[in-house]
Amino acid sequence: MPPLAAAPTKLGYSPTEQSTTDRTPWSIRDSTSPDARESKLIGQSPVMQKLFSVIGRVAPNDSSVLITGATGTGKELVARAIHDQSPRRDGKFVDVNCSAIPETLIEAELFGHQRGSFTGALANNCGLFEKASGGTLFLDEIDALNLSAQAKLLRVLQERTVRRIGARTNIAIDVRVISATNCDLAQEVAAGRFRPDLYYRLRVLPLHLPELCTRGNDVELLIDHFLRLKAEHEGVARRQFTDEAMRALMEYPWPGNVRELENAVAYAMAIGADEQLGLADLPAEITNNRIQSSTSDFRDVLQAYMNETVPLAEIEKRYILSVLQQFGGNQVRAAAALGIDRSKLYRRLKQYGVMAVKFLQEEQNGMQLRTWSTKA
Ligand SMILES: Nc1ncnc2c1ncn2[C@@H]1O[C@H](COP(=O)(O)OP(=O)(O)OP(=O)(O)O)[C@@H](O)[C@H]1O
Ligand SMILES: [Mg+2]
Repeated sequence: MPPLAAAPTKLGYSPTEQSTTDRTPWSIRDSTSPDARESKLIGQSPVMQKLFSVIGRVAPNDSSVLITGATGTGKELVARAIHDQSPRRDGKFVDVNCSAIPETLIEAELFGHQRGSFTGALANNCGLFEKASGGTLFLDEIDALNLSAQAKLLRVLQERTVRRIGARTNIAIDVRVISATNCDLAQEVAAGRFRPDLYYRLRVLPLHLPELCTRGNDVELLIDHFLRLKAEHEGVARRQFTDEAMRALMEYPWPGNVRELENAVAYAMAIGADEQLGLADLPAEITNNRIQSSTSDFRDVLQAYMNETVPLAEIEKRYILSVLQQFGGNQVRAAAALGIDRSKLYRRLKQYGVMAVKFLQEEQNGMQLRTWSTKA
């Protein structure tokens, strides 16, 4: 096992170890939590109706589920829906964002550790598997697990026991595992980055979420849903989009899927001053409806700077961000495509984090940074 840099604490690590996303690395929800069973999956399209019926069938089964789909398609919401419809609904739902936990701490977080098992391990700590006992463990962005953690996870799933780091005995666990990824895990297996035996153990019940642009009228339903939801949360009167704005929303291809749509509604509600929300209240990419591939965006950026001297670091930053966008925010795949290791990509993104948002605001016509940089 590699040396551990710091001891895990209840909600994470020293600030320098934090992931580039804003998400908490893990959260625990039980049936008494305020948001319990609040999440509602919206969709009337045939593809979503079929998905709802599959969810109904897989929920009572205790086998592992692997949810795949592009960013923002609702993988986490579906995982919660499966838990809420399962016999484990009164147990905990432990949501772990594997990519937000530093590689050196992931095993201690998942499996726990004994006091003194590494520098800073001041007390015995039960891992997330133990915390989820009786409920569901949701391993989000499972593709981010390194090979060592994959091997240990496989053993836990096979033996249904965990051994805390530094401990001599195994502890029986009763957990259903649901995992999710927005990358092609079969391709990760073929590339040798993901264990095939673990892959097959995780995808006993595979579920794929379709992209929003294939869901037809669901866009209209979701717009309506978010307008109502946000008005309720903010305690304000419900507003509507003008016909012209609705047309722009319906024509937009939604590369960031439901999350992007939710953000667009929130943006319009914050920007719009009138009772009706118009075209001018929508984010620029929707009004322009100019979706270009990140590669052509990058070429535009290069073209625009042809006659200027641009620092090499700036070119590197823009290229890294464009590749990351190309892979839907998947850092593991972006790092592989860039030919650098993931920790180097992390460091770069950490360095760019704040500037990326600023860049987006300042250069609306430049490369578009989407939901992956402002992930809720
Ligand atoms: N069918 C749906 N009905 C209502 N809300 C939805 C639906 N699908 C997604 N959402 C909402 O969209 C947002 C993004 O969903 P979620 O976080 O589940 O996506 P994801 O697939 O896990 O994305 P990522 O891969 O980026 O983590 C959430 O706020 C979620 O509540
Ligand atoms: Mg997710």
